[in-house]
Amino acid sequence: MQNIVGLAALTATAALLAWSGFRTWRVKNRIVKWGGAGLLALLSLAMLCASGLTSLGMIKQHSRSAPIPDIKVAATPELIARGKDIADGLCGACHSHTGTLTGGYDLAVELQVPIGSFVAANLTPAGPLKHWSDGEIFRAIRNGVDAEGRWLTMMSYVRAGRLSDDDIKAVIAYIRSVAAAGNPTPDPPDHMNMLGLAMLGAGMLPSGQPIITGHISGPLKGPTFEFGEYILAYQDCRACHGENLTGGVPGQLAPLGPDLNLVKDWTLAGFIAAMRTGIDPNGHQISEQMPWRSVGKMDDDELAAIYQYLTHMPNS
Ligand code: HEC
Ligand code: HEC
Repeated sequence: MQNIVGLAALTATAALLAWSGFRTWRVKNRIVKWGGAGLLALLSLAMLCASGLTSLGMIKQHSRSAPIPDIKVAATPELIARGKDIADGLCGACHSHTGTLTGGYDLAVELQVPIGSFVAANLTPAGPLKHWSDGEIFRAIRNGVDAEGRWLTMMSYVRAGRLSDDDIKAVIAYIRSVAAAGNPTPDPPDHMNMLGLAMLGAGMLPSGQPIITGHISGPLKGPTFEFGEYILAYQDCRACHGENLTGGVPGQLAPLGPDLNLVKDWTLAGFIAAMRTGIDPNGHQISEQMPWRSVGKMDDDELAAIYQYLTHMPNS
């Protein structure tokens, strides 16, 4: 709503500037006539462009859609334990700043450009999920669309959608098992401002990971290269460390992480200790931009799997 008023104001300003331009054109003084009218025409054109891009952004914002799978999660203790594991090692980095899955943390502080507010939602029954079906939660995790069909911006940017069907069901079983806690978060939890919409319209912001409609199965859990490859498919290491994990590129939305080939010089024990304590084998204190606190919550097999992958991946 706020954005629609903003868009109307932008378009009205463009029209007003154009109108003043025409008025100035009638002035006798030639400097005022050419200079003034020219300047006003330019300004009006710029405003018109901005409102055009913003409108395009609004259209893109409403174009994401994905089907709701017809599922019902039958919770078992094993499933809940696996779900807790994934939630601690992945979802918690954003959703557990104030308490386990209680949300409330605005990711806007981490972005390089002020494009709006993106408050990690409260996923406990104190938030809206208690009214969602299992299929609706599945769709939010897999494809970044909420129960009302609205685009969940950050959820569509993260790779959690590449979790296997079974692992997403495990996360749902775990979410359903936690008690209500924390304060309600805004509904909808994200708000993209006019700058964000204009950037989206101009193609300067991604419109999210591609929609996945097929089934995804994962490899057997264990300290293996294959399982490591699977973890790195749904974790967001690549958002910061680059598509090939060879280091982030300036200009990316997320913080810049170094080339992960550096892990090849570490022992397995050194890698696990670095992720659990925040101190690497060289005694360097790893900054909080690196989500080592949640990554370190993964169990030994998972961290060993990541280590296997990082130490055996191609160099470039
Ligand atoms: C990089 C941070 C980040 C990670 C990681 C993350 N989320 Fe989110 N999540 C958000 C933000 C921010 C929102 C608010 C809407 C938006 O911008 O996507 C959100 C919204 C949601 C919603 C919609 C809730 C609502 O009330 O509309 C669900 C469900 C959700 N997340 C579940 C998860 C689960 C489950 C995981 C782990 C598998 C996860 N998220 C991982 C940041 C994250
Ligand atoms: C939000 C961005 C972000 C994500 C996501 C992220 N990292 Fe990082 N990572 C960083 C930054 C920034 C640094 C540099 C921190 C420093 O040196 O203080 C870093 C450093 C590291 C280091 C080297 C630390 C050192 O001491 O040199 C390792 C190893 C690492 N990350 C592994 C991972 C793995 C594995 C994942 C995914 C499971 C991951 N990171 C996800 C941002 C990120």
